[in-house]
Amino acid sequence: MRASLAVITLLVFSTTIHAHTWVEELNLIASNGTFVGNPGYTRGWIPRTAPGWSDFVAENKLLGNLTGPMCKAQQTLGNYTAQYPALSAAPNDQVALRYLENGHVTLFTVQQGKPLGRGTVFIYGTTKPSPDDTYLNVHRVWNAAGTGGNGNGKLLATRPFDDGRCYQINDAPLSTQRQAQFNYKSEVWCQADFQIPADAPTIGLYTVYWVWEWPFLYSNGAIQSNESYTSCMDISMTPNAVPNAGSFDSTQVTGSGVMSAGIQAYSTTEFSVNPTAYPQVAPDNPNPIPAPPGVEPPSQDPAAAAAAAAAPSTATSAAASPLAVSPAAAPSSVSNANEGAKMVTVTVTEPAVTTVTVTAASIATSATQNQTPVASSASSPAPSPSSAAIVAADKPAVTPFLAPSKRSVSVRGRAVFV
Ligand SMILES: *[C@@H]1O[C@H](CO)[C@@H](O)[C@H](O)[C@H]1NC(C)=O
Ligand SMILES: *[C@@H]1O[C@H](CO)[C@@H](O)[C@H](O)[C@H]1NC(C)=O
Ligand SMILES: *[C@@H]1O[C@H](CO)[C@@H](O)[C@H](O)[C@H]1NC(C)=O
Ligand SMILES: *[C@@H]1O[C@H](CO)[C@@H](O)[C@H](O)[C@H]1NC(C)=O
Repeated sequence: MRASLAVITLLVFSTTIHAHTWVEELNLIASNGTFVGNPGYTRGWIPRTAPGWSDFVAENKLLGNLTGPMCKAQQTLGNYTAQYPALSAAPNDQVALRYLENGHVTLFTVQQGKPLGRGTVFIYGTTKPSPDDTYLNVHRVWNAAGTGGNGNGKLLATRPFDDGRCYQINDAPLSTQRQAQFNYKSEVWCQADFQIPADAPTIGLYTVYWVWEWPFLYSNGAIQSNESYTSCMDISMTPNAVPNAGSFDSTQVTGSGVMSAGIQAYSTTEFSVNPTAYPQVAPDNPNPIPAPPGVEPPSQDPAAAAAAAAAPSTATSAAASPLAVSPAAAPSSVSNANEGAKMVTVTVTEPAVTTVTVTAASIATSATQNQTPVASSASSPAPSPSSAAIVAADKPAVTPFLAPSKRSVSVRGRAVFV
Protein backbone atom coordinates (compact mmCIF):
# COMPACT_ATOMS: atom_id res chain seq x y z
CA MET A 1 0.00 0.00 0.00
CA ARG A 2 2.68 2.44 1.04
CA ALA A 3 4.87 1.43 -1.88
CA SER A 4 2.11 1.91 -4.42
CA LEU A 5 1.32 5.30 -2.93
CA ALA A 6 4.94 6.24 -3.36
CA VAL A 7 4.82 5.16 -7.00
CA ILE A 8 1.69 7.20 -7.61
CA THR A 9 3.25 10.19 -5.91
CA LEU A 10 6.34 9.87 -8.06
CA LEU A 11 4.27 9.64 -11.22
CA VAL A 12 2.30 12.72 -10.30
CA PHE A 13 5.48 14.58 -9.47
CA SER A 14 7.28 13.52 -12.60
CA THR A 15 4.34 14.57 -14.75
CA THR A 16 4.41 17.94 -13.09
CA ILE A 17 8.13 18.33 -13.07
CA HIS A 18 8.64 17.42 -16.69
CA ALA A 19 6.45 20.27 -17.86
CA HIS A 20 9.57 22.44 -18.15
CA THR A 21 9.49 26.12 -18.81
CA TRP A 22 9.54 28.87 -21.39
CA VAL A 23 8.53 32.53 -21.43
CA GLU A 24 4.74 32.85 -21.53
CA GLU A 25 4.31 36.57 -21.64
CA LEU A 26 6.15 39.87 -21.58
CA ASN A 27 4.82 42.81 -19.59
CA LEU A 28 5.87 46.42 -19.21
CA ILE A 29 6.41 47.46 -15.59
CA ALA A 30 5.60 51.04 -14.54
CA SER A 31 7.87 52.69 -11.98
CA ASN A 32 5.26 52.04 -9.26
CA GLY A 33 5.67 48.31 -9.95
CA THR A 34 2.37 47.69 -11.77
CA PHE A 35 2.23 45.91 -15.11
CA VAL A 36 0.86 48.33 -17.69
CA GLY A 37 -0.12 48.26 -21.35
CA ASN A 38 -0.66 45.25 -23.55
CA PRO A 39 1.33 42.05 -23.02
CA GLY A 40 3.72 40.77 -25.64
CA TYR A 41 4.73 37.23 -26.56
CA THR A 42 7.67 35.18 -27.72
CA ARG A 43 8.28 34.56 -31.40
CA GLY A 44 6.01 31.96 -32.99
CA TRP A 45 3.72 31.94 -29.97
CA ILE A 46 1.06 29.25 -29.78
CA PRO A 47 -1.40 29.52 -26.88
CA ARG A 48 -1.98 26.56 -24.60
CA THR A 49 -5.58 26.45 -25.78
CA ALA A 50 -4.60 25.75 -29.41
CA PRO A 51 -5.50 22.30 -30.76
CA GLY A 52 -2.64 19.85 -30.46
CA TRP A 53 -0.72 22.08 -28.07
CA SER A 54 1.80 20.40 -25.79
CA ASP A 55 4.85 21.45 -23.82
CA PHE A 56 7.01 20.42 -26.74
CA VAL A 57 5.46 23.12 -28.90
CA ALA A 58 6.78 25.75 -26.53
CA GLU A 59 9.92 24.46 -24.83
CA ASN A 60 13.37 24.66 -26.34
CA LYS A 61 15.56 22.24 -24.46
CA LEU A 62 19.31 21.82 -24.86
CA LEU A 63 21.15 18.83 -23.41
CA GLY A 64 24.59 17.24 -23.60
CA ASN A 65 27.25 19.60 -24.86
CA LEU A 66 24.57 22.23 -25.51
CA THR A 67 25.27 22.57 -29.21
CA GLY A 68 22.37 23.94 -31.20
CA PRO A 69 20.73 27.17 -32.26
CA MET A 70 19.75 29.66 -29.60
CA CYS A 71 16.18 29.72 -30.88
CA LYS A 72 13.62 27.01 -31.43
CA ALA A 73 12.88 26.38 -35.12
CA GLN A 74 9.62 28.33 -35.29
CA GLN A 75 11.04 31.19 -33.22
CA THR A 76 12.35 33.02 -36.27
CA LEU A 77 12.97 36.76 -36.24
CA GLY A 78 9.74 38.75 -36.25
CA ASN A 79 7.45 35.70 -36.36
CA TYR A 80 4.40 37.34 -34.77
CA THR A 81 0.67 37.47 -35.36
CA ALA A 82 -1.81 40.28 -34.69
CA GLN A 83 -3.33 38.16 -31.95
CA TYR A 84 -0.01 37.39 -30.23
CA PRO A 85 2.17 40.40 -31.01
CA ALA A 86 5.60 41.47 -29.89
CA LEU A 87 5.75 43.67 -26.82
CA SER A 88 5.91 47.35 -27.67
CA ALA A 89 8.45 49.20 -25.53
CA ALA A 90 10.98 52.03 -25.45
CA PRO A 91 14.59 52.34 -24.33
CA ASN A 92 14.88 52.33 -20.51
CA ASP A 93 11.50 50.66 -20.04
CA GLN A 94 11.35 47.88 -17.45
CA VAL A 95 10.11 44.54 -18.78
CA ALA A 96 8.97 41.37 -17.01
CA LEU A 97 9.59 38.03 -18.73
CA ARG A 98 7.05 35.76 -17.10
CA TYR A 99 7.12 31.98 -16.92
CA LEU A 100 5.57 29.16 -14.92
CA GLU A 101 7.60 27.38 -12.29
CA ASN A 102 6.14 24.03 -13.37
CA GLY A 103 7.20 22.38 -10.11
CA HIS A 104 10.85 23.35 -10.40
CA VAL A 105 10.42 25.69 -7.43
CA THR A 106 7.81 24.14 -5.16
CA LEU A 107 8.82 20.52 -5.89
CA PHE A 108 12.51 21.35 -6.13
CA THR A 109 13.83 18.23 -4.39
CA VAL A 110 12.06 15.79 -6.71
CA GLN A 111 15.07 16.02 -9.00
CA GLN A 112 18.22 15.63 -6.95
CA GLY A 113 21.28 17.71 -7.67
CA LYS A 114 19.53 20.70 -9.23
CA PRO A 115 21.33 24.00 -8.61
CA LEU A 116 20.97 26.91 -6.23
CA GLY A 117 18.33 29.48 -7.09
CA ARG A 118 16.36 26.79 -8.93
CA GLY A 119 18.80 27.54 -11.71
CA THR A 120 19.65 30.91 -13.16
CA VAL A 121 17.96 32.94 -15.87
CA PHE A 122 20.24 34.99 -18.12
CA ILE A 123 18.71 37.68 -20.34
CA TYR A 124 20.55 38.83 -23.47
CA GLY A 125 19.65 41.68 -25.83
CA THR A 126 20.74 42.42 -29.38
CA THR A 127 20.01 44.70 -32.31
CA LYS A 128 21.83 42.23 -34.55
CA PRO A 129 20.07 38.90 -34.10
CA SER A 130 21.07 36.12 -36.45
CA PRO A 131 19.61 32.71 -37.20
CA ASP A 132 23.22 31.61 -36.75
CA ASP A 133 23.20 32.64 -33.07
CA THR A 134 23.85 29.45 -31.15
CA TYR A 135 23.53 28.80 -27.44
CA LEU A 136 27.28 28.42 -27.09
CA ASN A 137 28.10 31.53 -29.14
CA VAL A 138 25.89 33.68 -26.94
CA HIS A 139 25.46 32.20 -23.48
CA ARG A 140 28.29 33.10 -21.09
CA VAL A 141 30.00 34.71 -24.09
CA TRP A 142 28.07 37.94 -24.66
CA ASN A 143 28.82 40.09 -21.63
CA ALA A 144 27.34 43.17 -19.98
CA ALA A 145 29.73 45.47 -21.83
CA GLY A 146 28.76 44.02 -25.21
CA THR A 147 32.36 43.08 -25.93
CA GLY A 148 32.02 39.29 -25.60
CA GLY A 149 32.23 36.88 -28.52
CA ASN A 150 31.12 38.38 -31.83
CA GLY A 151 30.13 41.57 -29.99
CA ASN A 152 26.65 41.47 -31.50
CA GLY A 153 24.72 41.58 -28.24
CA LYS A 154 24.99 41.95 -24.51
CA LEU A 155 23.96 40.43 -21.21
CA LEU A 156 21.16 42.53 -19.72
CA ALA A 157 20.31 40.73 -16.47
CA THR A 158 20.70 37.59 -14.38
CA ARG A 159 17.97 36.34 -12.05
CA PRO A 160 17.43 33.25 -9.94
CA PHE A 161 14.74 31.14 -11.62
CA ASP A 162 12.82 31.30 -8.34
CA ASP A 163 11.86 34.95 -8.00
CA GLY A 164 10.82 34.40 -4.37
CA ARG A 165 7.17 34.70 -5.24
CA CYS A 166 6.00 32.08 -7.74
CA TYR A 167 4.28 28.80 -7.06
CA GLN A 168 1.94 26.32 -8.63
CA ILE A 169 -0.93 24.98 -6.56
CA ASN A 170 0.17 21.76 -4.89
CA ASP A 171 0.59 20.36 -1.38
CA ALA A 172 4.28 21.14 -1.10
CA PRO A 173 5.09 23.27 1.97
CA LEU A 174 6.53 26.06 -0.16
CA SER A 175 3.34 26.28 -2.21
CA THR A 176 1.03 26.38 0.78
CA GLN A 177 3.33 28.86 2.51
CA ARG A 178 3.33 31.22 -0.48
CA GLN A 179 -0.42 30.85 -1.00
CA ALA A 180 -0.86 32.07 2.57
CA GLN A 181 1.89 34.69 2.32
CA PHE A 182 0.34 36.33 -0.73
CA ASN A 183 -3.26 35.52 0.17
CA TYR A 184 -3.79 34.15 -3.30
CA LYS A 185 -5.13 30.69 -4.10
CA SER A 186 -4.20 30.45 -7.77
CA GLU A 187 -0.91 29.80 -9.50
CA VAL A 188 1.56 32.67 -9.45
CA TRP A 189 3.93 32.99 -12.37
CA CYS A 190 7.64 33.66 -11.93
CA GLN A 191 9.31 36.61 -13.54
CA ALA A 192 12.76 37.72 -14.61
CA ASP A 193 12.76 41.48 -15.09
CA PHE A 194 15.20 43.64 -17.00
CA GLN A 195 15.57 47.16 -18.29
CA ILE A 196 15.80 47.82 -22.01
CA PRO A 197 19.18 49.50 -22.56
CA ALA A 198 19.26 53.27 -23.03
CA ASP A 199 21.07 52.75 -26.34
CA ALA A 200 18.39 50.45 -27.78
CA PRO A 201 16.67 51.87 -30.88
CA THR A 202 13.32 53.68 -30.91
CA ILE A 203 12.21 51.97 -34.09
CA GLY A 204 12.34 48.41 -35.41
CA LEU A 205 12.91 45.24 -33.40
CA TYR A 206 15.09 44.64 -30.37
CA THR A 207 15.73 40.93 -29.78
CA VAL A 208 15.86 39.29 -26.37
CA TYR A 209 17.07 35.80 -25.49
CA TRP A 210 15.93 34.18 -22.23
CA VAL A 211 18.25 31.37 -21.11
CA TRP A 212 17.56 29.15 -18.11
CA GLU A 213 20.56 27.15 -16.91
CA TRP A 214 19.27 24.09 -15.11
CA PRO A 215 21.98 21.40 -14.91
CA PHE A 216 22.34 18.45 -12.58
CA LEU A 217 25.36 18.97 -10.34
CA TYR A 218 27.39 16.34 -8.54
CA SER A 219 27.85 16.93 -4.83
CA ASN A 220 31.17 18.71 -5.50
CA GLY A 221 29.51 21.12 -7.91
CA ALA A 222 30.79 19.56 -11.12
CA ILE A 223 28.18 19.31 -13.85
CA GLN A 224 26.70 15.83 -14.01
CA SER A 225 24.62 16.67 -17.06
CA ASN A 226 23.70 19.87 -18.82
CA GLU A 227 20.13 20.97 -19.25
CA SER A 228 19.14 24.42 -20.47
CA TYR A 229 16.08 26.09 -21.94
CA THR A 230 15.72 29.13 -24.15
CA SER A 231 12.97 31.43 -25.39
CA CYS A 232 13.49 33.97 -28.14
CA MET A 233 11.46 37.13 -28.54
CA ASP A 234 11.50 40.49 -30.24
CA ILE A 235 10.38 43.79 -28.82
CA SER A 236 8.78 46.31 -31.15
CA MET A 237 10.59 49.52 -30.29
CA THR A 238 8.94 52.90 -29.91
CA PRO A 239 10.15 56.27 -28.60
CA ASN A 240 7.18 56.38 -26.19
CA ALA A 241 8.43 55.20 -22.82
CA VAL A 242 6.10 54.18 -20.02
CA PRO A 243 5.22 57.40 -18.16
CA ASN A 244 6.65 57.79 -14.69
CA ALA A 245 4.15 56.48 -12.13
CA GLY A 246 5.98 57.30 -8.91
CA SER A 247 7.90 54.99 -6.63
CA PHE A 248 7.33 51.26 -6.19
CA ASP A 249 4.20 50.47 -4.21
CA SER A 250 4.86 47.19 -2.43
CA THR A 251 1.38 47.08 -0.87
CA GLN A 252 -0.01 45.92 -4.22
CA VAL A 253 1.88 42.60 -4.03
CA THR A 254 -0.94 40.68 -2.42
CA GLY A 255 -4.05 38.86 -3.60
CA SER A 256 -4.39 39.03 -7.39
CA GLY A 257 -1.89 41.93 -7.27
CA VAL A 258 0.84 39.31 -6.96
CA MET A 259 0.20 38.50 -10.64
CA SER A 260 0.28 42.09 -11.88
CA ALA A 261 3.39 43.63 -10.32
CA GLY A 262 7.13 43.47 -10.87
CA ILE A 263 9.78 42.48 -8.34
CA GLN A 264 10.96 45.57 -6.53
CA ALA A 265 14.57 44.46 -6.04
CA TYR A 266 14.90 43.76 -9.75
CA SER A 267 14.06 47.35 -10.61
CA THR A 268 17.33 48.55 -9.09
CA THR A 269 19.73 45.70 -9.88
CA GLU A 270 20.31 44.00 -13.18
CA PHE A 271 22.57 41.23 -11.88
CA SER A 272 20.96 39.36 -9.02
CA VAL A 273 23.33 36.46 -9.64
CA ASN A 274 27.04 36.82 -10.38
CA PRO A 275 27.04 36.25 -14.14
CA THR A 276 30.50 34.73 -14.23
CA ALA A 277 29.90 32.25 -11.41
CA TYR A 278 29.04 28.71 -12.46
CA PRO A 279 25.97 26.89 -11.10
CA GLN A 280 26.30 25.99 -7.45
CA VAL A 281 25.06 23.11 -5.34
CA ALA A 282 21.80 23.85 -3.55
CA PRO A 283 22.34 22.99 0.13
CA ASP A 284 18.71 21.88 0.37
CA ASN A 285 19.04 19.48 -2.56
CA PRO A 286 22.52 18.04 -3.03
CA ASN A 287 23.13 15.21 -5.44
CA PRO A 288 23.60 11.91 -3.57
CA ILE A 289 25.86 10.79 -6.42
CA PRO A 290 29.46 11.88 -5.84
CA ALA A 291 31.48 13.02 -8.81
CA PRO A 292 33.71 10.35 -10.35
CA PRO A 293 37.40 10.78 -9.52
CA GLY A 294 38.91 13.69 -11.41
CA VAL A 295 35.58 15.33 -12.22
CA GLU A 296 35.84 18.81 -10.78
CA PRO A 297 33.63 21.87 -10.91
CA PRO A 298 34.66 24.38 -13.56
CA SER A 299 36.97 27.02 -12.23
CA GLN A 300 35.15 30.32 -12.04
CA ASP A 301 37.37 32.04 -14.55
CA PRO A 302 41.02 31.77 -15.57
CA ALA A 303 42.09 34.81 -13.53
CA ALA A 304 40.36 33.42 -10.46
CA ALA A 305 42.03 30.05 -10.87
CA ALA A 306 45.44 31.63 -11.36
CA ALA A 307 45.02 33.87 -8.33
CA ALA A 308 43.88 30.97 -6.17
CA ALA A 309 46.91 28.93 -7.17
CA ALA A 310 49.30 31.82 -6.58
CA ALA A 311 47.99 33.01 -3.23
CA PRO A 312 45.77 30.53 -1.45
CA SER A 313 43.97 31.99 1.56
CA THR A 314 46.19 35.00 1.97
CA ALA A 315 43.49 37.59 1.65
CA THR A 316 44.05 40.91 3.26
CA SER A 317 41.71 43.81 3.53
CA ALA A 318 44.03 46.02 1.57
CA ALA A 319 44.17 43.58 -1.29
CA ALA A 320 40.53 42.79 -1.26
CA SER A 321 38.89 46.15 -0.95
CA PRO A 322 39.35 48.42 -3.91
CA LEU A 323 36.59 47.45 -6.32
CA ALA A 324 33.79 49.94 -6.15
CA VAL A 325 30.15 49.03 -5.94
CA SER A 326 27.60 51.12 -7.74
CA PRO A 327 24.90 52.57 -5.50
CA ALA A 328 22.26 50.86 -7.59
CA ALA A 329 23.74 47.44 -6.95
CA ALA A 330 24.34 47.60 -3.24
CA PRO A 331 20.92 47.53 -1.59
CA SER A 332 19.27 45.08 -3.87
CA SER A 333 19.72 41.53 -2.81
CA VAL A 334 16.56 39.47 -2.83
CA SER A 335 15.70 38.36 0.64
CA ASN A 336 13.54 35.29 0.65
CA ALA A 337 11.85 33.86 3.69
CA ASN A 338 12.06 30.39 2.21
CA GLU A 339 15.77 30.48 1.87
CA GLY A 340 16.37 30.50 5.60
CA ALA A 341 18.64 28.19 7.54
CA LYS A 342 21.06 27.30 4.83
CA MET A 343 24.74 27.48 4.28
CA VAL A 344 26.12 29.13 1.23
CA THR A 345 29.73 29.60 0.34
CA VAL A 346 30.68 32.22 -2.16
CA THR A 347 34.18 32.48 -3.50
CA VAL A 348 35.01 35.89 -4.83
CA THR A 349 38.19 36.91 -6.50
CA GLU A 350 39.89 40.06 -7.45
CA PRO A 351 41.91 39.04 -10.49
CA ALA A 352 45.61 38.42 -9.93
CA VAL A 353 45.48 39.41 -6.28
CA THR A 354 43.67 37.02 -4.05
CA THR A 355 40.78 34.66 -3.52
CA VAL A 356 38.44 34.96 -0.60
CA THR A 357 35.84 32.48 0.47
CA VAL A 358 32.91 33.77 2.47
CA THR A 359 30.65 31.38 4.28
CA ALA A 360 27.32 32.48 5.67
CA ALA A 361 25.26 30.03 7.65
CA SER A 362 21.74 29.86 9.06
CA ILE A 363 20.55 33.08 7.59
CA ALA A 364 17.32 34.26 9.11
CA THR A 365 15.29 36.60 6.98
CA SER A 366 12.03 38.21 7.84
CA ALA A 367 8.94 36.88 6.13
CA THR A 368 7.71 39.71 4.00
CA GLN A 369 5.33 39.77 1.12
CA ASN A 370 7.72 41.32 -1.28
CA GLN A 371 11.42 41.03 -1.64
CA THR A 372 13.08 43.09 1.01
CA PRO A 373 16.27 44.97 0.38
CA VAL A 374 18.87 43.90 2.91
CA ALA A 375 19.20 47.37 4.31
CA SER A 376 15.61 47.33 5.48
CA SER A 377 15.83 43.86 6.97
CA ALA A 378 18.87 44.67 9.07
CA SER A 379 16.76 44.64 12.21
CA SER A 380 15.96 40.95 11.83
CA PRO A 381 18.41 38.62 13.52
CA ALA A 382 21.21 37.69 11.19
CA PRO A 383 24.80 36.65 11.76
CA SER A 384 27.62 38.95 10.82
CA PRO A 385 29.87 37.44 8.21
CA SER A 386 33.60 37.72 8.50
CA SER A 387 33.65 39.61 5.27
CA ALA A 388 31.16 40.65 2.66
CA ALA A 389 30.85 39.64 -0.92
CA ILE A 390 29.17 41.96 -3.36
CA VAL A 391 28.36 41.49 -6.99
CA ALA A 392 28.40 44.68 -8.96
CA ALA A 393 27.81 44.56 -12.69
CA ASP A 394 29.77 41.50 -13.72
CA LYS A 395 32.57 41.89 -11.21
CA PRO A 396 32.60 40.19 -7.85
CA ALA A 397 34.20 42.34 -5.18
CA VAL A 398 35.04 41.94 -1.52
CA THR A 399 34.75 44.59 1.14
CA PRO A 400 37.45 44.78 3.81
CA PHE A 401 37.67 42.14 6.47
CA LEU A 402 37.06 43.31 10.02
CA ALA A 403 34.61 45.88 8.78
CA PRO A 404 33.91 48.30 11.62
CA SER A 405 30.14 47.98 11.53
CA LYS A 406 28.08 44.83 11.90
CA ARG A 407 26.47 43.70 8.72
CA SER A 408 23.55 41.49 7.95
CA VAL A 409 23.72 39.23 4.99
CA SER A 410 21.00 37.83 2.85
CA VAL A 411 21.52 34.84 0.65
CA ARG A 412 19.67 34.40 -2.58
CA GLY A 413 20.81 32.64 -5.71
CA ARG A 414 24.56 32.53 -5.50
CA ALA A 415 25.35 36.02 -4.41
CA VAL A 416 25.86 37.28 -0.91
CA PHE A 417 25.31 40.97 -0.50
CA VAL A 418 25.54 43.39 2.37
C1 LIG B 1 5.98 31.02 -37.03
O1 LIG B 1 5.37 30.47 -35.90
C2 LIG B 1 4.33 29.55 -36.19
C3 LIG B 1 3.68 29.17 -34.87
O2 LIG B 1 4.64 28.66 -33.98
C4 LIG B 1 4.92 28.35 -36.91
O3 LIG B 1 3.91 27.43 -37.24
C5 LIG B 1 5.60 28.83 -38.18
O4 LIG B 1 6.26 27.76 -38.80
C6 LIG B 1 6.61 29.91 -37.85
N1 LIG B 1 7.13 30.46 -39.10
C7 LIG B 1 8.41 30.64 -39.32
C8 LIG B 1 8.76 31.22 -40.65
O5 LIG B 1 9.26 30.38 -38.50
C1 LIG C 1 28.18 20.85 -20.55
O1 LIG C 1 28.27 21.75 -21.66
C2 LIG C 1 29.55 22.33 -21.81
C3 LIG C 1 29.45 23.32 -22.95
O2 LIG C 1 29.18 22.67 -24.13
C4 LIG C 1 30.57 21.24 -22.10
O3 LIG C 1 31.85 21.81 -22.17
C5 LIG C 1 30.55 20.22 -20.99
O4 LIG C 1 31.39 19.16 -21.33
C6 LIG C 1 29.14 19.71 -20.77
N1 LIG C 1 29.16 18.82 -19.61
C7 LIG C 1 28.55 17.64 -19.61
C8 LIG C 1 28.69 16.84 -18.37
O5 LIG C 1 27.89 17.25 -20.57
C1 LIG D 1 28.44 17.86 -29.33
O1 LIG D 1 27.65 16.70 -29.56
C2 LIG D 1 27.37 16.49 -30.92
C3 LIG D 1 26.40 15.32 -31.00
O2 LIG D 1 26.83 14.28 -30.21
C4 LIG D 1 28.67 16.23 -31.67
O3 LIG D 1 28.40 16.05 -33.03
C5 LIG D 1 29.59 17.44 -31.49
O4 LIG D 1 30.84 17.18 -32.09
C6 LIG D 1 29.78 17.77 -30.04
N1 LIG D 1 30.50 19.02 -29.94
C7 LIG D 1 31.45 19.23 -29.05
C8 LIG D 1 32.08 20.60 -29.06
O5 LIG D 1 31.83 18.37 -28.28
C1 LIG E 1 0.69 52.42 -11.02
O1 LIG E 1 0.59 53.29 -12.12
C2 LIG E 1 -0.26 52.83 -13.15
C3 LIG E 1 -0.13 53.78 -14.32
O2 LIG E 1 -0.40 55.07 -13.91
C4 LIG E 1 -1.67 52.71 -12.64
O3 LIG E 1 -2.52 52.21 -13.63
C5 LIG E 1 -1.68 51.77 -11.43
O4 LIG E 1 -2.96 51.72 -10.86
C6 LIG E 1 -0.66 52.21 -10.38
N1 LIG E 1 -0.57 51.18 -9.37
C7 LIG E 1 -0.83 51.40 -8.08
C8 LIG E 1 -0.66 50.26 -7.16
O5 LIG E 1 -1.20 52.47 -7.67
